[in-house]
Amino acid sequence: MEKPNESSMATSKKGDETKAATAADTTSKTENNPKSGADKSDKSTTEKSETEKNSGKAAAQSTADSKANGKAAGKTGSELDSNTDNSTEDEDDSEEKPLKKFFLDALKDIYFAEHAILEALPKMRDAATTEELKDAFEDHEIVTRKQIKRLEKVFRNIGEQAEKKKCEAIEGLIKETENIIKSTPEGTMTRDAALIIAAQKTEHYEIASYGGLVQLAITLGYDKCVDLLEDTLEEEENTDYDLTDIAESFINFEALNDDAEADYGEDDESEDYEDEAYEEEYDEEEYEESTSYH
Ligand SMILES: [Fe+2]
Repeated sequence: MEKPNESSMATSKKGDETKAATAADTTSKTENNPKSGADKSDKSTTEKSETEKNSGKAAAQSTADSKANGKAAGKTGSELDSNTDNSTEDEDDSEEKPLKKFFLDALKDIYFAEHAILEALPKMRDAATTEELKDAFEDHEIVTRKQIKRLEKVFRNIGEQAEKKKCEAIEGLIKETENIIKSTPEGTMTRDAALIIAAQKTEHYEIASYGGLVQLAITLGYDKCVDLLEDTLEEEENTDYDLTDIAESFINFEALNDDAEADYGEDDESEDYEDEAYEEEYDEEEYEESTSYH
């Protein structure tokens, strides 16, 4: 029987020298599935030169490695407080500048998204099968509350009120998660495998958003905001990594048994089915013909 597809689970790897910021940039595990489209992630985009950072091009690009800056995930409240004081960073007359406005809109977008995620996480926890995934969602709920507070500090630092702006992307991702819960059998590993992928899609939206915000904050000279946003970015990346770890350690493998029992009874029958399905789907000659350029 073929090994389950582990590598479709996109990851952010802890300890990398640079951090991926966009979903497309985020690296994927590749060792077990050379066919995965995610293998084509552009590793080179994580290596941003100082020139790019300073030229304002880096809106959707990765942040510098916060570990290299001596940061640690999960700062304490007092450490968090040390990032703020009563002064604001926006003391020049840049309020009307389009880039400042865009930065503010993007903050409102992710502020909305964090609240929506906070609301969705208990439902995801209740729907999950394994204690490991339930715990992961519970932990992320605590982290998300902290991230909302941190965003409020960012708003304060630039002299703005914390406000939400409707984020249709996150609404869509949450809707997709709800559909996954409806369409997977309760109490199965398939449910958890699917929930992990749904959660990672959300994480990647957040990673892209915070990665872009960090770079915009650098460009706009909002130094205190850079620190705060980088802390959250690192937490999102760690969550993504942890979800991958849970999926690859056992859930994906056990979900394979869900399929066999639910749909085909005996193991040998399911194996036959898979062989046929594989032949149908991956007829290499047909594939090459349909995709070749003339
Ligand atoms: Fe978050």
